[in-house]
Amino acid sequence: MRIDILTIFPQFIETGVDFSVIGRARRNGLVEINAVDIRDYTDDRHRSVDDTPYGGEHGMVMRVEPIARALNHLGACRESARIVLTSPLGKRFSHSVAHNLAGSEWLVLICGHYEGVDERVRQHLATDEISIGDYVLTGGELPALVITDAVVRLLPGVLGNQVSASDESFTAGLLEYPQYTRPRIFNGCAVPEILLSGNHAAIARWRRYHQLVRTRMLRTDLFEELNLSEQDQELLEGGEPLNPVPDKNNCVRGEDS
Ligand SMILES: C[S@@+](CC[C@H](N)C(=O)[O-])C[C@H]1O[C@@H](n2cnc3c(N)ncnc32)[C@H](O)[C@@H]1O
Repeated sequence: MRIDILTIFPQFIETGVDFSVIGRARRNGLVEINAVDIRDYTDDRHRSVDDTPYGGEHGMVMRVEPIARALNHLGACRESARIVLTSPLGKRFSHSVAHNLAGSEWLVLICGHYEGVDERVRQHLATDEISIGDYVLTGGELPALVITDAVVRLLPGVLGNQVSASDESFTAGLLEYPQYTRPRIFNGCAVPEILLSGNHAAIARWRRYHQLVRTRMLRTDLFEELNLSEQDQELLEGGEPLNPVPDKNNCVRGEDS
């Protein structure tokens, strides 16, 4: 997959994609990520990417021409690239949107700044418009990095163990089950015995039960969308946690085990 990120802060993007799983995926050639400096496509000696808004309002608006020139130079409009404008007006980003984008071969992300971008970028250049949440950030760089991270980790071979992606929150419309590592007892809170039992079938049931219960408790919106199998219903109706997660009231905060 190729991802081009159009930005006025290319270093911000370069730094953001240089670490951990995404950095390794880049170095291993599983994804090509380029930060494209919009200022390289300006036509004046000040390299201006913004101008005052028509109709008179406060702030500045990003100009359409440098963005259009950058896209033309890349050839993104001719090819079947997904051209995503980051914007608070966009479709809400989610795991399923990330999956959908991960299916494309070429993704271009446009980072706005100031009061946003000229409306013609939305209307004529972008194929998609994505918001990462109902709040306003100063620029599209963080949203572009969020989208890139969530998409790239879904690409084949990026996560060493593909099971870890298919097990995670949201993959099957469920939240993740509780996870533990050493020590076995911390501040009086023990790891559920079942996880030490070596009984893989029982562990899988326990994990499924907690995924269902957590999703029902924490995200009723997701839970209502689920098509529960008979087994899931039985598991839930069984009512009893197969091996309860330790009650956090029994744990002593701030003391060593
Ligand atoms: C300060 S914001 C512009 C906000 C705009 N004036 C408005 O009221 O909707 C500048 C840029 O940051 C990015 N941005 C800000 N919040 C965002 C969000 N929640 N999701 C995606 N992009 C966002 C967009 O690229 C936007 O063009």
